[in-house]
Amino acid sequence: MKKDIERVLISEEQINAKINELGKEISEKYDGEDLILIGVLKGSVPFMAELMKNITIPCKMDFMAVSSYGNSTESSGVVRILKDLDFEIEDKNVLIVEDIVDSGITLKYLMNYLKAKNPKSIEIACLLNKPERREVDIDVKYLGFNVPNYFLVGYGLDYAEKYRNLPYIGILKEEVYKK
Ligand code: IMP
Ligand code: MG
Repeated sequence: MKKDIERVLISEEQINAKINELGKEISEKYDGEDLILIGVLKGSVPFMAELMKNITIPCKMDFMAVSSYGNSTESSGVVRILKDLDFEIEDKNVLIVEDIVDSGITLKYLMNYLKAKNPKSIEIACLLNKPERREVDIDVKYLGFNVPNYFLVGYGLDYAEKYRNLPYIGILKEEVYKK
């Protein structure tokens, strides 16, 4: 896999240090309250795993799966729900956990979908943000890193389902996807 990576953008150490800070912030913010983390499959899995280990208050974990990209590097703009929640979230504090916000279409759709279930509160925790690519307005309350507009892989992020298991965020070589 390593030969397909142009360079490492964010190391595992940098990611862990940042998630540690986010975990502290979230633990303080929701202290004394219930909390449900909702991970967006599959990209959020490593972030979710590390984040919840750094949250020191009780919390539940649930997942949703949505489709947006297929095997391309550009969003289709169409969001479909492939797996819905196991828990009811009415009157609960919900924190959506996502790998990256790009156009913002996926999170906007999820926000509206989950808000309709009347949670007590709903916020977003996202490891990466590509501000240049934003098409719709999204408020990411707990953000890891702003990143430039490269196609990134690793730490959950994939290209055609590959590279999710890299322990760092890397820039994918253009020759890999521009074939
Ligand atoms: P959005 O709806 O355009 O914000 O897209 C969000 C989704 O696109 C994320 O959950 C990722 O799965 C995917 N995505 C966006 N940028 C990248 C990238 O650089 N590498 C891999 N996946 C990406
Ligand atoms: Mg994704």
